[in-house]
Amino acid sequence: MTTDELKEYKKVIKYFHHRTKNVDWNSWNLFDEGLEGKVFIDPKRKKALKIMIVSLDDDPITRFEMIEAVNISASKFGICPKLYSVFYTLKGNVLFQCIEQEFFKGVSLDTLPKNITLKIMPLINDKIDCMIKNGIIHNDLHGGNILVSSDYKKIKFIDFSHGCIDLNCSKELLHKYYVRKLSSFYAKRN
Ligand SMILES: Nc1ncnc2c1ncn2[C@@H]1O[C@H](COP(=O)(O)OP(=O)(O)O)[C@@H](O)[C@H]1O
Ligand SMILES: [Mg+2]
Repeated sequence: MTTDELKEYKKVIKYFHHRTKNVDWNSWNLFDEGLEGKVFIDPKRKKALKIMIVSLDDDPITRFEMIEAVNISASKFGICPKLYSVFYTLKGNVLFQCIEQEFFKGVSLDTLPKNITLKIMPLINDKIDCMIKNGIIHNDLHGGNILVSSDYKKIKFIDFSHGCIDLNCSKELLHKYYVRKLSSFYAKRN
């Protein structure tokens, strides 16, 4: 990332600071630069803030609401790290989408040897079962999006930015507010 780009991302974190009033925005550090998002962490390594640039071409706000809903559901069932907030901000003509989560201490599954992967397979299956039951669709599940704790006892799925909710499965479980929002998302799509 260039220093100019970093400055733009820091402006987003500064905006986030104004909203939450409890973080020292300048001390958040870049932790990981993935293909789609930049992940920043706070100095105490308690929180992760993923910042993505959203295309303005494809109905970004409804897409954003879907990502918000899928993260809320996944967090509620302990599938992903605890979700604190989801927000977006327009800087110039660039729309930034931000997901504030618990920082989960772990390594990506794809960095672990095969014998360890086999050992934690039941944990992965449990999370997938839970997602299927609750209509949570990840759409980009691979080793790089599965974090494993150092004792291999806990796992979390991350990166639900391609995810969606299957309303037929989860209507009863979702908060009414999100059902309403999601219904309008589906109405627009169909
Ligand atoms: N909540 C989190 N806790 C700890 N590390 C995280 C968290 N979210 C993301 N990361 C780190 O950032 C990397 C990229 O995040 P990810 O959401 O997969 O972005 P991308 O869309 O770019 O693939 C992950 O591989 C992981 O190392
Ligand atoms: Mg990823």
